[in-house]
Amino acid sequence: MKKLYIKTYGCQMNVYDSHRMADLLAPLGYGPADTPEDADMVILNTCHIREKAAEKVYSELGKLKHIKTARAHEGRSLQIAVAGCVAQAEGKEIMARQPAVDMVVGPQSYHRLPEMIAKIARGSGRALETDFPAEDKFDRLPEDQAVEGPAAFLTVQEGCDKFCTFCVVPYTRGAEFSRPVAQVEKEARYLVSRGVREITLLGQNVNAYRGEGPDGEAWTLAQLLDRLARIEGLARLRYTTSHPRDMGEDLIRAHGEVEKLMPHLHLPVQSGSDKILHAMNRGHTCEAYFEIIERVRNARPGIALSSDFIVGFPGETDADFDATMVLVRRIGYAQSFSFKYSPRPGTPAASMKQIPETVKDERLQALQALLTEQASAFARGCAGRVFDVLFEKPGRKNGQAVGRSPYLQPVHVDGAASLIGEVHAVRIAAVLPNSLKGELVSIVRA
Ligand code: SAH
Ligand code: SF4
Ligand code: F3S
Repeated sequence: MKKLYIKTYGCQMNVYDSHRMADLLAPLGYGPADTPEDADMVILNTCHIREKAAEKVYSELGKLKHIKTARAHEGRSLQIAVAGCVAQAEGKEIMARQPAVDMVVGPQSYHRLPEMIAKIARGSGRALETDFPAEDKFDRLPEDQAVEGPAAFLTVQEGCDKFCTFCVVPYTRGAEFSRPVAQVEKEARYLVSRGVREITLLGQNVNAYRGEGPDGEAWTLAQLLDRLARIEGLARLRYTTSHPRDMGEDLIRAHGEVEKLMPHLHLPVQSGSDKILHAMNRGHTCEAYFEIIERVRNARPGIALSSDFIVGFPGETDADFDATMVLVRRIGYAQSFSFKYSPRPGTPAASMKQIPETVKDERLQALQALLTEQASAFARGCAGRVFDVLFEKPGRKNGQAVGRSPYLQPVHVDGAASLIGEVHAVRIAAVLPNSLKGELVSIVRA
């Protein structure tokens, strides 16, 4: 039995892809390794979104090269593959900079890994696959999946046609593409048959989903959610990441109508300044964003909101940044992610006049202080409430289980270890810095 170690960077779509790469290699005899030292093959599934993310890959490859050399002295081999968005963006450069790399494979072509491995085994050197192939990757992935717990990711949409001026995703993931409804439903049913109770539908722009429906028409994400909600045994649905421009009326309504759809929406706004939104090519104004949020809140009162923010985008003045702070105060987020603008090679904003790093640092600190305060306020408001919790895995203490609230917060409950895979009512007894502590209300099986 050979051993495979996959290190995953970046977004949930990479997490999904890493699982699927492991599923592809399982029939070739690869089982999981605990460490890279222990592995016969290491895959780095990389992210190109910000400079730091991309740099990590080269330092990690340096370490792997040492392991590979040490193993060669023992007469054993280590194969090194680079997958993901850095592979797509810089495949040839990776090959040139790090001779220890055997394979480079992009996010749309990793179904070809088995062929690439066979090619190398035949002694034909190294392999690079970064085309956007004509065939559907998903058709080539095995039906069997290793299922790791009751909550699973399922990619339904890939790529992006939006071309925000800061972003590499349209270049690394290609054009928007949606999987057909039947293909998604089949995968969802498989996951549920293996004990999955919660599915998060993934896409770079998941709400731009337009997959072919059983009637031959292009279905929306709302239609897909409604279809999947009918699967018996599936308790919860989520979806991420959405773009404000694709927040259709039927999807907003689904938040009020589809009971299994959890009351949480990640809807990145990036900035609170119309001038900056325009320069980012986001394609909507702040007012349009407020309107969407109001409609979502009307459809599903109490829904928790989260967002991504970029500070220090080229041209952002103090007034533009203040407008972002005003937007955050007006919306009130349960959780958020915020980043300093990072110029990415080949994107339009990289050649605009840049903001000094110190200014970016100050703005990020101020924004994060506000977002952290909002997140704490949201968490404090959960004390004493009763939530349905899906127990996912054992906790650190004996007998304890950790699950998720409807709002995606981790909840620890003592004496719940036997309830993993089930949904139970839990009263929130204490609010901890990064999680909640709860007590079972009853153990009536859900
Ligand atoms: N499709 C999603 C975002 C995917 S990237 C959307 O449109 O919202 C995830 C987040 O990374 C983005 O929301 C953005 O906040 C951040 N990001 C993307 N490119 C960046 C860059 N060049 N510098 C800093 N942050 C960036
Ligand atoms: Fe990137 Fe914009 Fe596409 Fe999101 S919508 S993936 S931020 S280009
Ligand atoms: Fe990163 Fe690619 Fe995801 S750049 S955020 S891994 S789509």
